[in-house]
Amino acid sequence: MKSETRKLWGGRFSKPTDSLAHQFGSSLHFDARLFDEDIAGSVAWAHGLVSANVLSEDEAVAIIAGLEQVRLEFMSDSFEAHPEDEDIHSAVERRLTEIVGPLGGKLHTGRSRNDQVATDFRLWTMRACDLLLQHLAGLQRALLASAETDLTVAMPGYTHMQRAQPITWGHWALSHLWPLTRDSDRFAHARRSASVLPLGAAALAGTAFSVDRHAIAVELCFESVCENSVDAVSDRDFAVDFLYAAAVVGVHLSQLSQQLILFSSAEFGFIVLDEAYATGSSLMPQKKNPDVLELTRGKSGRLIGNLTGLLVTLKGLSSAYDRDLQEDKEPVFDAFDVLSNALPLVAGIIRTIELRPERMAAQIDPGMMATDLADYLVMRGVPFREAHAIVGKVVRMSEERGVGIADLAPEDLHIVSDQFGDDVWQVFDIDASLARRAAVGGTATDELRRQLEAARRKST
Ligand code: ARG
Repeated sequence: MKSETRKLWGGRFSKPTDSLAHQFGSSLHFDARLFDEDIAGSVAWAHGLVSANVLSEDEAVAIIAGLEQVRLEFMSDSFEAHPEDEDIHSAVERRLTEIVGPLGGKLHTGRSRNDQVATDFRLWTMRACDLLLQHLAGLQRALLASAETDLTVAMPGYTHMQRAQPITWGHWALSHLWPLTRDSDRFAHARRSASVLPLGAAALAGTAFSVDRHAIAVELCFESVCENSVDAVSDRDFAVDFLYAAAVVGVHLSQLSQQLILFSSAEFGFIVLDEAYATGSSLMPQKKNPDVLELTRGKSGRLIGNLTGLLVTLKGLSSAYDRDLQEDKEPVFDAFDVLSNALPLVAGIIRTIELRPERMAAQIDPGMMATDLADYLVMRGVPFREAHAIVGKVVRMSEERGVGIADLAPEDLHIVSDQFGDDVWQVFDIDASLARRAAVGGTATDELRRQLEAARRKST
């Protein structure tokens, strides 16, 4: 590549930049994605320069028309990058100056790429939060619909990945919805932390021209203005907030994927995945693989890595802007790209899942009602600890005899405790077991209906 002669800062230099150093520092291949925000920021800055009497109205009109032409070139994919374009800001300014002539050189008055890039990136992040909030709401709706349709379908609930107690599909589906509502809160927070305007901070000390920063904030839909210009050019907390929110979503999607992968295996057979979201094997004709879910689980590693990577980059910074900060955008773009695909895909999987209630019911063995058996004794006045020990003995007896606890005769139970009555068989009724969990948060049907409504209110 030919070395540079037209750098933005060429005046002070007598030598061109080494071409590898130029390539190393160039960010246009990824920050071109900020073109719309860069132009919006420049239009607002042009208005600011009019209010500061740096630009006449006519000059601003010409500059803004030029900027709109550049925007159209990007939108129609006809923008031609030049080798000397270092980043989106220098590319837009170079093209603007080609279109409007030397007048284009007035736009950068009182502004630095330091406050410019922070402004563009914050605007982009605000939009990204809005889009991801919509995708999160889509997945929440899919889980709500699934919970509502199969609210009372009984299934085994697991702890330590061992059968624990019966729950219902609706209860399970809502258990994956609530984390996503907290994720929405986290993205709303990230959006608020991005919504503070840095423009007017200039390089670090603040702009020397009397631009109305509050008017610029209103024009660009920022909620407020950065209070300290040194902080304004280095603050990337909003990007960290965004990446944290994204990493937590990644963890939640990974957990959900892991469960669905397991449930769709032949061993479980609780669900059947729609063929639209599965793939076959090139070798084994019988295979139907849950690749989308596996990739979603796998990509959560990248989301966590993006957060860690940015935090490590930031911790080395000294004061105000350092070029390290150019490393802030790719992890955020990547996190956005991963989630804006994974969220609608997982929503599609949930919407098309086919349940096998008979397979789930078959896995609820009466041993999972051992707690109910202890509770039965508690209702007859036995202290819970004692009841727990008695039922433990019942379980051992059933194992020794090779039968389920519900298959032991009342006489057998009497050997362990005389508190067992003839009505003890009722304990092993699955529906009765579900219905007993009627306290807030439990798996009883009426309570689940209440949770469903609460979840619906939180999700919309
Ligand atoms: N491409 C740079 C970035 O992404 C823009 C700011 C450059 N500022 C500078 N003083 N070199 O951070």
